[in-house]
Amino acid sequence: MNAIETEDLRKSYGDLTALAGLTLAVSEGELFGLLGPNGAGKSTTIRILTGQLRPDSGSASVLGVDPVAEPVEVRERIGILPEQESPPSFMTPREYFDFVATVRDLDESVVAKRVKTWAERLSYREKLDTLNTDLSRGQQQKVMITGAFLHEPDLVFIDEPLVNLDPIVQESLKRFLESYRDDGNTVFLSTHDIDVAAELCDRVGIVSEGDLVTTRRPADLAEGERLLDVFLREVGHDEGVAAGESGR
Ligand SMILES: Nc1ncnc2c1ncn2[C@@H]1O[C@H](COP(=O)(O)OP(=O)(O)OP(=O)(O)O)[C@@H](O)[C@H]1O
Ligand SMILES: [Mg+2]
Repeated sequence: MNAIETEDLRKSYGDLTALAGLTLAVSEGELFGLLGPNGAGKSTTIRILTGQLRPDSGSASVLGVDPVAEPVEVRERIGILPEQESPPSFMTPREYFDFVATVRDLDESVVAKRVKTWAERLSYREKLDTLNTDLSRGQQQKVMITGAFLHEPDLVFIDEPLVNLDPIVQESLKRFLESYRDDGNTVFLSTHDIDVAAELCDRVGIVSEGDLVTTRRPADLAEGERLLDVFLREVGHDEGVAAGESGR
């Protein structure tokens, strides 16, 4: 079964076409990555699928629910890491997680255990009682990631999850995402890191000018073919870029 489906999604802001008829499907249990140039429509797609933005036309289904007609039900069932968002400045991480727990109707002791696990996984235990405003950018990102997974959803939308994280924490999050996928859950992420997409994702979609131009399984790339080459070819900027030596 598909965890996510969209059909001919269109969205304009005035004269600007952000989505020009985007159609895609993501299977249950798939770790799916969206790549694309700045402004291609990745975050717009995520905002529509998570019930935060209405498309002008087209349809979508998330875990069998229509995010346009039933945004609240969709948001209850999924986890969301919005692009470049900080936790509330006037709360500590622990207070923010209590707030998430209240909204999500989670048991206090369950949340305490999950927060401990996440703070260890992402190496920020000593910051749990520091005001969010006094955390570094990467530490704030760790808090937002924890908040997205606190209710252990079956499907997460994570918009540039690795941004601002140090290499050790990136590794830890990548290994978690793999095990989360191995447990049958679905991940829909956007990233600008082509190497991460190639290493981590079961399948990658490339968005350009509001449309999905291709999807690839990194595992199925031809010998010597790199995902970067596919990207450059598909978004139409392949002139003058030398092919790298290491094949991917
Ligand atoms: N609220 C808005 N009002 C006007 N234009 C917007 C709005 N949100 C997005 N856009 C425009 O829609 C287009 C798609 O934006 P979107 O944020 O989806 O791109 P993206 O693929 O996520 O880019 P990035 O890689 O930079 O995050 C861009 O041209 C952007 O300027
Ligand atoms: Mg974006």
